[in-house]
Amino acid sequence: MAFGKVNDIDDGCFYDCENHTLSNWILRELRSNHAGETGAVAIYKGILWLTRDPTVIRFAEEHLGSERRHLAAIEGILPPTKRSSLLLLWRIAGFLVGMAPAMFGPRAIYVTIEAVERFVVRHYDSQIECLAHNSAFPLLRAQLEWLRSDEHAHQCEARNLTESHLTALERVWVRLVQLGSYAAVTVARRI
Ligand SMILES: [Fe+2]
Ligand SMILES: [Fe+2]
Repeated sequence: MAFGKVNDIDDGCFYDCENHTLSNWILRELRSNHAGETGAVAIYKGILWLTRDPTVIRFAEEHLGSERRHLAAIEGILPPTKRSSLLLLWRIAGFLVGMAPAMFGPRAIYVTIEAVERFVVRHYDSQIECLAHNSAFPLLRAQLEWLRSDEHAHQCEARNLTESHLTALERVWVRLVQLGSYAAVTVARRI
């Protein structure tokens, strides 16, 4: 989905709007979004690297296409100089988060994806909520709403495929995935 260029962050209205706090906040959030979508692409690559289940392959290929579109959209508005310096780390971490459950079969993959997407939906939710109080960035808000809607669809799809309640071990894994996602977002906002 194309939103056009929100602006050139180096000399556009991010710095002309006389609200430098908001400008810095947007840059940090976009950096974390870009890192997250980079990790999401890598998650599906990790799944596809290991799985031989045709249903999972179809699921992962569809989601991979979607995550690549998300990443391209964010790259369209966030200049390379403003992106996280740790992209290699996010790629490796994402690949491992996809590959690890793929060793245990489809259910572990769907449980993991549901956990990741639930975190991502909340992440975009919080940004949309913040921007709701500011009318200066309608294109950015539209982009975030599109991203949230896609991620919510991914979450629902994975939850429907999980079929039954989580075991104690799965709950521990879900917690680890969500704590890891939280730590990654916190770091990517800064570096
Ligand atoms: Fe995404
Ligand atoms: Fe997603």
